[in-house]
Order: sequence, then C-alpha cells, then structure tokens
Amino acid sequence: MRLFPFIKRITTPLQLEVDVHSHLLPGVDDGVENLGKSIAILKGLWESGWKKVVLTPHQMEGFFVSDVEKLEKIKKELEEELKKEGILLQLELGGEYYTEPEIVEKIENREEKLLTIGGKYLLFEFPLGFISPLVERMVSAIKNRGLTPILAHPERYPYLTPTDYQELKEMGVLFQSTIGSFGGRYGKNVKKRALHLAKEKMVDFLGSDIHNWQDFRFTQHLLTSHSFTYLLSKNPLKNQSLL
Ligand SMILES: [Fe+2]
Repeated sequence: MRLFPFIKRITTPLQLEVDVHSHLLPGVDDGVENLGKSIAILKGLWESGWKKVVLTPHQMEGFFVSDVEKLEKIKKELEEELKKEGILLQLELGGEYYTEPEIVEKIENREEKLLTIGGKYLLFEFPLGFISPLVERMVSAIKNRGLTPILAHPERYPYLTPTDYQELKEMGVLFQSTIGSFGGRYGKNVKKRALHLAKEKMVDFLGSDIHNWQDFRFTQHLLTSHSFTYLLSKNPLKNQSLL
C-alpha cells in the first residue's frame, strides 16, 4: 500500500527520479535534526517515485560539519537504517559549497577530497544578500579540479541580472533550480526569476533543497502541477543521467 496516495504524481512528460540537492543527512547542518525525521522524509520520497537522492550538506567553514570522513560515516548509518525499513532509495553524498575564501582555497587545494555529484559535478552557492567578489575564482577553481560547476538555486540571488545569468552560462556554469521556487516557497520575486530561467530553457537540474517536512510537502505538491511539469519538461534537465 502506498503511504502517500495524496501526493501521487500526475502523468507528466517530466521524468524526475533523482534529486540533486537536499539537506537530509541528520544533524550536520541546518537541515533535518535527527535520524527519525530523515527517514520519514526519505520514505516519503521513495513512496512517491523518487529513486535517488543526493545529500548535499552545506560546506561553509566554521558553521557546519565539513569533515568528509564524518559525513560519509553518517551517510552509511542512514543507508543501513533505510535498508532495515525496506526503503530501496539510493543515496549519494555530495555537498553544497559556499562561495567564500576558505572554501575556494579548499577547492583549489588538490589534496582536498571534494564531495562531488556523480564524480563530475560540484554544487556551489553564492551568498544570498551580496555579490561575492570570488565568483570567477570559484568557478575556475571547480573547473581546474576537472569538475563542472552547478550553481544552486540561481533564482534565489536577487542581485543577478539576466545578463549575469548569460555570463555564468558562458563561463560553463550549469543551473540547478529548486522545485519549491516555482510555487512561491521563497517569495514572489524568486518565483518570477525561476519562471524566467525555465522559459529561457536555462534550467539544467532540478533539486528539492529539502531541509524539513514542510519543504518535502511543498516539493511534492509542485510535482502535481501541470503547468510546472509542462514548463520544466521543455528544459534540458540532466537529473536522469545520474541514475
Ligand atoms: Fe541547499
């Protein structure tokens, strides 16, 4: 029996079974606080058709757990718990790298192990409130490690202009939009920007950026929207290539 019949997806041209952005590794950042909450959301995702979730804990110096071995250990425990529950959802450990001096230096250091997605992408974010002077250096650092940069939720930075979006694309940056943005989860302006990016077919990946149960419900609700799934199906989404 499906536990979440109320969020059963509609038949849609949008094939989306891999989530590339989430904060579901328990107790490591501002995402889910404990194992129980993590399992409940992952179970919900599994029941509603997702097959793989990339865990992307914030990589922000001095704020959150950034020790790769520790994160891997917690991910393993989570996987064991999922197995016990009979949840066959695949997990992958990635990271969401914040554009700040310490993190750029970390990426530039070839000795440093990075939390990639699929061994070829690196998810990174900008500060929400101001333009970082490190944008070009961050993008070059990621590319110099042989990885393709994916900018997390480009619609959430109020200072980016349509020209900035173009320039980032020309620099080789891929865009990951957050599903909730299209339903107004982060306000009207973010929704407007998300719709602009999707209409321009600039969205390369979709992610949930789930931090809690409310984000989960919001995300699942959007996936029942015809206008959302139709619009996004016209974008060159690469989520399925990570299955
Ligand atoms: Fe995030």
